Amino acid sequence: MATNILDLKGRIGLVTGAGQGVGRSVALRFAENNAGGVVVNDFRLERAQAVAAEVEKLGVKAIPVQCDVTDFGSVSAMFETSRAKFGKVDILVNNAGNAGADPGAVVRKPFWEQEPKDWQPFLGTNLFGVLNCVRVAGAEMIKHGYGKIVTVISDAGRVGEPRLEIYSGAKAGAAGFMRAIAKNAGRYNVTANCVALGATRTPATERGMADPEALKRVLKVYQIKRIGEPEDAANMILFLSSDASSWITGQTIPVNGGYSFAV
Ligand SMILES: NC(=O)c1ccc[n+]([C@@H]2O[C@H](COP(=O)([O-])OP(=O)(O)OC[C@H]3O[C@@H](n4cnc5c(N)ncnc54)[C@H](O)[C@@H]3O)[C@@H](O)[C@H]2O)c1
Repeated sequence: MATNILDLKGRIGLVTGAGQGVGRSVALRFAENNAGGVVVNDFRLERAQAVAAEVEKLGVKAIPVQCDVTDFGSVSAMFETSRAKFGKVDILVNNAGNAGADPGAVVRKPFWEQEPKDWQPFLGTNLFGVLNCVRVAGAEMIKHGYGKIVTVISDAGRVGEPRLEIYSGAKAGAAGFMRAIAKNAGRYNVTANCVALGATRTPATERGMADPEALKRVLKVYQIKRIGEPEDAANMILFLSSDASSWITGQTIPVNGGYSFAV
């Protein structure tokens, strides 16, 4: 009989920003691969509820939890709720990102015209959100002697993108933090890795990709001539969340159609 090397063996996963896009796909991949339960977080409760219902349809227990990951108090409360339901959280996926909980309110102007307050949405969710969740979840993982932490960054954080300066810096900061956590927590059997995405079709990006001419321009710099799908990201995140990756830590693995290469 074929073994599923990605089997999650009944472990409990919590995915932030899982109400749509990549996070939703991760929650479903977890359910398809024998997770014992999935905590579906989103700033928007109705999105988390819809995805939790999809997970349950696959026969896996799920709870939707509204929380803004930029708020340490709400993050602590979210993990309390998760523990009350499932006992513990074995896998944390820091997926909430992009322009944060209210992308419509983000100021889009050249970096040289921005003010420090314009940077907050990007730094808040992409950097401080990761610190908050790892601070709370990681401490418990160390106590239990087991944990998998995966943070979704962007190739912007690896190679830098003009017009996304703060986002690039926040994602690079999250990756540096994850490397330090890998060194801190490896001895407790906790792995900490990042997945760096290239352009991926999600509700955050689909409008920009709907124009065939714009898509053509984007694909010029991709070796594989299609845009990423949420499942491309979820497949790697599942691998890094499973014991198939138990000897991999502190790494940032690109899932990017060859947009850039890791050496
Ligand atoms: N889509 C891409 O092309 C792309 C490329 C590179 C990296 N990424 C990264 O991948 C991850 C997922 O991206 P996506 O495009 O699937 O996302 P998305 O923007 O489509 O969805 C993210 C979800 O997270 C929620 N969210 C945002 N801020 C939150 C907060 N502070 N607390 C809780 N929930 C919050 C939103 O409500 C939303 O439902 C992000 O970290 C993003 O930066 C995406």
